Amino acid sequence: MSSINPLDLHTDPRHFVGKDVYAVAGNPISHSKSPFIHQHFAEQAKQKIHYGRLQPDIGTFAEAAKSFFAAGGKGMNVTVPFKLDAQALADVLTARAQLAGAVNTLWIADGKMVGDNTDGDGLVRDLLAQGIAIHQSRILLLGAGGAARGVIGPLLAQSPKALVIANRSNLKADELVKLFANLAASREVALESRTLADLEDATKTQHPFDLVINATAAGLTDESPLSVQAVANIFVPSSFAYDMVYGKTTAFMQQALQRGARVSDGLGMLVEQAADAFLLWRGSDLARLIEPRAVLAKLRS
Ligand code: ATR
Repeated sequence: MSSINPLDLHTDPRHFVGKDVYAVAGNPISHSKSPFIHQHFAEQAKQKIHYGRLQPDIGTFAEAAKSFFAAGGKGMNVTVPFKLDAQALADVLTARAQLAGAVNTLWIADGKMVGDNTDGDGLVRDLLAQGIAIHQSRILLLGAGGAARGVIGPLLAQSPKALVIANRSNLKADELVKLFANLAASREVALESRTLADLEDATKTQHPFDLVINATAAGLTDESPLSVQAVANIFVPSSFAYDMVYGKTTAFMQQALQRGARVSDGLGMLVEQAADAFLLWRGSDLARLIEPRAVLAKLRS
């Protein structure tokens, strides 16, 4: 699929008269579950929409997105590797998109392209739906890249007791702590950075943690960011381990299971961030009609 003519049969609004057209843009995109999820929300809320896939070539996201909206596209979800391009393209950013430093949802309002980020709130809603208490909990966030940054604001908004950001190299984790220091203070959260190596030393971190979230890219290559020693310090049977990767039991999840902890992959986060985008586009009053947990169950079956 060429980005020069991104309006292919799956996403060109001119082919879907009588329906509002949405799309998810990423590269690669064929694996995306977003069309399945959004079509189910549309059926539940009786909305006439079509939701397709777009795969712009790297470096051509802006051109593809502009063409999509110029042809009448109503909204776009954005995934790897275009979330920064989407942020750069948007005329207006919501507060949470600014905090996240990335955009996963676009639409047009008053002639301007609005960029938002629903990832972090999607994670929080999935955790709460799974019965995980975030308020007053001790959270360890692994990773300090875009995926980690995207969820820090919504996690802090739940007022955990502590949030420790641990990364291989300390520079990026330190930067995130600086960036979110004011928000953390306003919520009375102890926000700290550590290196992954620090987690092996019981004197350098207050172990164990209630909630450990893997936001590193390690899960994609079937590695875990945690060493055997770190695992022994971090998890107890009451811990909950969440991997943002979905569709498999990752090495990180296996480590937690071996310590008796409960685990989850990130499929619920995917569904919940999509629900948020759907409601932004179609109206928050539809919240009572859509059933994200039922769509999640369908995806798992
Ligand atoms: P994303 O947008 O998915 O977060 P990113 O911005 O490239 O992607 O960030 C990747 C994150 O995964 C970083 O925190 C990276 O650690 P470094 O900053 O030290 O590079 C982390 N990461 C990637 N592979 C990893 C591995 N094998 N073990 C531990 N951390 C890893």
